Amino acid sequence: MFEDPDIQTLIRTFRDYAGYDFNNYSEKSFLRRIEKVMMDYKLDIRKLIAKVKDDRLFLEQVVRDITVNTTELFRDPQVWHAIKYRILPRLASKREINIWHAGCSTGQEVYSMIILLNEMNMLHRCNIYATDLNTDVIKTAQAGVYSYRSVSEYLDNFNKVLCENPYNFDEHLVVTYEKYFDINKVKDTFKIKREFLNKAIFKKHDLVTDPNPFNVSYDIILCRNVLIYFNNTLQNKLFIDFWNYLDTYGSLVLGIHESIIGPTSVKYDKKGLIYNKKVF
Ligand SMILES: C[S@@+](CC[C@H](N)C(=O)[O-])C[C@H]1O[C@@H](n2cnc3c(N)ncnc32)[C@H](O)[C@@H]1O
Repeated sequence: MFEDPDIQTLIRTFRDYAGYDFNNYSEKSFLRRIEKVMMDYKLDIRKLIAKVKDDRLFLEQVVRDITVNTTELFRDPQVWHAIKYRILPRLASKREINIWHAGCSTGQEVYSMIILLNEMNMLHRCNIYATDLNTDVIKTAQAGVYSYRSVSEYLDNFNKVLCENPYNFDEHLVVTYEKYFDINKVKDTFKIKREFLNKAIFKKHDLVTDPNPFNVSYDIILCRNVLIYFNNTLQNKLFIDFWNYLDTYGSLVLGIHESIIGPTSVKYDKKGLIYNKKVF
């Protein structure tokens, strides 16, 4: 619970005027973002509250400013190696596989998964679901168009994950960018090829307040670099939600600096970077 009464009023305003509940966000990270918002819009906290109450578009903009959207193609390749060599082989004989990207931002993580599944010849058996609180990032994700400059520095990750095998240094595959992307360096565009768009279903979803968005059991839930913005109470609630939504022995993939601590940790079996659902 935030102590400052003005911050409490601001949080109440987000909840009462638009249904966003930031009460259980990490205090440090929330206050840092609010300070930046006040500086960017040159407003003190009282004026910020008044404007948020008065101007719905401004309120939505501030929500976007608070929820950080940074993402990358094949972010943290070691996590993708764990997905490729530890999780997906276990699912190789399953007829239908459900994967949920919770907090998918602009979709690079989702397209990384689609590309990896395609390379492993598993894509046709997968239902890929992706959600985020922020409708702007979902629109970008659905369009699958990025600035080449913003993506190019992560293309190395593409090679690391798809071409190298950390368990067998002799193995070296060749996968070209052209197979998956239409790249125009002059126009600074980087587009996901049409045949790989529409492979995922995107939907607006608030992890704090909404139930299972697709009403299925998931074989893999990825919720990476989202929980760091939440406090322990909210993190624990989500670890329980995810446990309930995972299929038997399903896997939860968190960000590389995130882990399950506290009472819910007994519900998962940690194998390297992956949390597998324990069944009791
Ligand atoms: C830092 S990005 C992580 C993107 C991607 N998972 C990755 O690791 O590259 C965090 C995302 O979480 C979303 N987010 C924040 N609060 C959320 C909530 N309550 N429900 C759903 N998504 C939320 C933000 O909008 C943002 O797009």
